[in-house]
Amino acid sequence: MSRYPVGIDFGTTNSMIAIFKEKGVIEVISSDSGKRFLPSVIYFKNSKEAVTGDNARSMQMLESENTISNVKRYMGSDKKFSIYGQEYTSAELATLFFKKLKGLHKDYTGDETAEAVITVPAYFDHLQREAVRASAQAAGFEVSALLNEPTAAAIYYNNIGKKENELCLVFDLGGGTLDISLIELNKDCLKVIATGGSTRIGGVDFDVAVADYLNDEFRKLHGIDLKTDPIAYQQLLFQAEKAKMELSSLNETNLVIPYITITPKGPLHFKMELNKQLFGKITEPIIQGIREITEELLRENNIKPEDISRVLPVGGASRICNVRAFVESLFGSSVSKDLNPEEAVVCGAATNAAMRKGLLGDRTFFDVTSHNMGLEDDNGMFEIIMRKNEPYPVSFTQRFTTASEDINDITVHVLQDTANSSLNVSDSPENDPEFFVSLAKFNFSVENVTEEKLIDICFDIDDSGIVTVIAKDVNSGREADFTLKATVDSDKIADIKIY
Ligand SMILES: Nc1ncnc2c1ncn2[C@@H]1O[C@H](COP(=O)(O)OP(=O)(O)OP(=O)(O)O)[C@@H](O)[C@H]1O
Ligand SMILES: [Mg+2]
Repeated sequence: MSRYPVGIDFGTTNSMIAIFKEKGVIEVISSDSGKRFLPSVIYFKNSKEAVTGDNARSMQMLESENTISNVKRYMGSDKKFSIYGQEYTSAELATLFFKKLKGLHKDYTGDETAEAVITVPAYFDHLQREAVRASAQAAGFEVSALLNEPTAAAIYYNNIGKKENELCLVFDLGGGTLDISLIELNKDCLKVIATGGSTRIGGVDFDVAVADYLNDEFRKLHGIDLKTDPIAYQQLLFQAEKAKMELSSLNETNLVIPYITITPKGPLHFKMELNKQLFGKITEPIIQGIREITEELLRENNIKPEDISRVLPVGGASRICNVRAFVESLFGSSVSKDLNPEEAVVCGAATNAAMRKGLLGDRTFFDVTSHNMGLEDDNGMFEIIMRKNEPYPVSFTQRFTTASEDINDITVHVLQDTANSSLNVSDSPENDPEFFVSLAKFNFSVENVTEEKLIDICFDIDDSGIVTVIAKDVNSGREADFTLKATVDSDKIADIKIY
């Protein structure tokens, strides 16, 4: 057993690891370069050596083909990354990254083992969640639970102040995901009421929008498309991010990239001024998406902005000037300024790891599911068994009959609705396959009896977020169960050294 409960925030852009020490002190473990976060970037020096963090990030410009960022955005998908002739899944790359975090933990504490709570976007579906769990386990962490990122932030906020009857909205905009949760806070209890969001909106989308705008302007001026040159485009993205950050405190900023490209007439330099107003115009469609998701969540739960007593901005991208302006225009003075948006999640994860070990007395908390979960019926339609925003641990059972008497074998196809955004809903996996993820498919045979053939399907989510589906032949009492989990081929990455 590890000495200290561990919290990990595996981020799209930056990751953090923290431990819960004696007297409730939470220590964020620094990276090799002395920062409190590790950029979630991996650079392969060759097929057997990989570098993470700041050093990898600085290689991104020069060797973008050997550098991978935003891995978290692809968790749970079957996307393959090709490096030095070898193909890797996002979970395998994430495992390398978790190995680095494990190493930092060992260097700091001297402990070989680490029992960790790992945060995931509230809006992640179960394929994405299980890919994160499997990666952390393959790297040697004992995963005591997965915890929703906004819930983690609220746990931390609640723990430092012991709130009484606050309806709190956590607005978490990170590098790659938007998560909004409505949470009821009380002294010893924290209850998530509802969550919404998108795994397709984050700080990087602002960078891309600005970089594309800059590229268009450059093309108009010089007739050259910088997107065809990966190094030049990467420089535009870096400058776009830098400008975005500067505009969080300044009204205008300059973007300068000397020697961005060479023409027969000589080198060309990139120089442009960007102010808040133009930045706002370029990125307005992203703000519009954020607005729709926020308003939909409030509408669905019959809550008006004035009912919210505290808004917690979380995630580095919540600092972006027009994001902050949007949040403040909607919620006014209830927007909190006393929480560190970058560290609240990892500190909440460490706090929760301590709660789970009984170190914080009798505190309870209830997280909720973020997607409807159910089965595909005989007509190809989605039949919901467990609705979203259900507090867990929980178990739900629904009884089915076979479509006709002579059917003995059924296929249980477990689905979850939209992975991308709480605005896209559909009840037909056949017509809108992009709004569904297939979690599991298994066959189940029913005993041949004269009476009606009855099957109970039970969905169970345990305290650590693991989903099990149980099919039961009611007449015979026979059961089959299927636990949703992912695996990582750790042999494939076993001899890659990670720095
Ligand atoms: N001062 C700032 N102003 C504007 N944006 C900022 C600032 N600081 C950081 N960001 C942006 O915040 C994002 C990173 O935030 P954070 O570290 O919270 O994300 P993450 O945890 O890696 O992502 P996610 O939670 O989506 O997985 C980046 O897009 C970064 O450009
Ligand atoms: Mg984050």
